[in-house]
Amino acid sequence: MQYRTLGKLGGEFSALGFGAMRLPVVNGQNANVNEPEAIEMMRYAIDNGVNYFDTAHPYHSGASERVLGQALAGGYRDRITLATKLPPWEVKEPADFDRLLNEQLARLNCDHIDMYLLHCMQWKWWPFLRDMGILDWLEGARGDGRIGQIGFSFHDNVNLFKEIVDAYDWTLCQIQYNYMNEDVQAGTEGLKYASDKGLAVIVMEPLLGGVLAEPGGEVDEIWSASGLDPVDTALQWLWNKPEVSLVLSGMSSPQQVKDNIASASRSGVGTLETQAIEAIGRVQEKYGQIATVPCTKCRYCMPCPSGVDIPVNFEYYNTAITFGGTARTLHRNLYAGLPETQRASACTQCEQCDEKCPQSIAISQLMSDVDKELG
Ligand SMILES: NC(=O)c1ccc[n+]([C@@H]2O[C@H](COP(=O)([O-])OP(=O)(O)OC[C@H]3O[C@@H](n4cnc5c(N)ncnc54)[C@H](OP(=O)(O)O)[C@@H]3O)[C@@H](O)[C@H]2O)c1
Repeated sequence: MQYRTLGKLGGEFSALGFGAMRLPVVNGQNANVNEPEAIEMMRYAIDNGVNYFDTAHPYHSGASERVLGQALAGGYRDRITLATKLPPWEVKEPADFDRLLNEQLARLNCDHIDMYLLHCMQWKWWPFLRDMGILDWLEGARGDGRIGQIGFSFHDNVNLFKEIVDAYDWTLCQIQYNYMNEDVQAGTEGLKYASDKGLAVIVMEPLLGGVLAEPGGEVDEIWSASGLDPVDTALQWLWNKPEVSLVLSGMSSPQQVKDNIASASRSGVGTLETQAIEAIGRVQEKYGQIATVPCTKCRYCMPCPSGVDIPVNFEYYNTAITFGGTARTLHRNLYAGLPETQRASACTQCEQCDEKCPQSIAISQLMSDVDKELG
């Protein structure tokens, strides 16, 4: 494992952080984590040098924090830095700050969270929490020892990102970043801005939620011709940058944990080879020619009041329009196989999902396009 520093905090943190948002599940049910396998994966990661874990209140409907708490029993807790996040959408009044943190400590089975982040800061949630006095409350929680360092995770445009960076003496921020998101959300501009100010920048969605791990069609041909592995190359592209503190990966199988630890062990600033830089340039160009919906399957839009499985609909849609041919036929069949209430055609245009999407996708407007393509 390679270790890196976290901005002005310094320290020695593994280049690869474990993102506990995509744990293995039973029968495809997101809330039903395959606990024995997840715990084995987490402990294997710690035993092989990973010392940073990221979770949050809503992941796996609360099971992520609980299962991570179980994995950290038996002395594992002391070997890692533990990060979780305050969910603003669960806050109605300032008293909820304490209620939520105490609930998280109980779920995580510990009395101290090392990194406490405000979750999913965007135009709606930042002013909401700030005006409710969140910064004073965070300092109080740090004073009484329940939390350590203070940060925020971010999904909005770079101007708001800079405003939040400048609003407080944060230790860390967490941004969505990968070779397809250089100009999306905080982007490269935000990465450099926060890093210059001494913040640790933790990268999330390094594979765009897994999309970059499964290239098809012409993109697959580019990777094959290069002889490079698309996952390893995408991760190395991030570790190559001095401004990136560490990269979180949401690993959903033991093999992915092994592969990504091996990648992290080979990582380093300024080590990306010309061949990899050129291959990524060609892939960026090719993806740039396809107009897909930028859904990362984070599932913040769920549950839909009508029952539509929004991320699945976008996944089928994107795959169909990106690759066409048999992929289109296959995904039309998969769409037809969904229960009727889960298909895009069941959307009632209530627009609740639009507000929740961290990518600002106009979900409700796109549902009819999805049904036209797949239905
Ligand atoms: N604060 C926020 O707002 C927020 C939002 C998003 C994420 N996060 C955090 O950031 C973490 C990382 O983001 P992410 O989970 O979206 O990461 P990601 O790396 O972009 O996507 C993870 C997915 O990539 C695929 N993958 C990972 N390693 C692979 C490998 N070696 N080979 C093949 N496929 C591989 C898997 O897809 P399959 O499951 O399809 O195999 C996995 O589920 C999350 O787990 C979470 O802790 C935070």
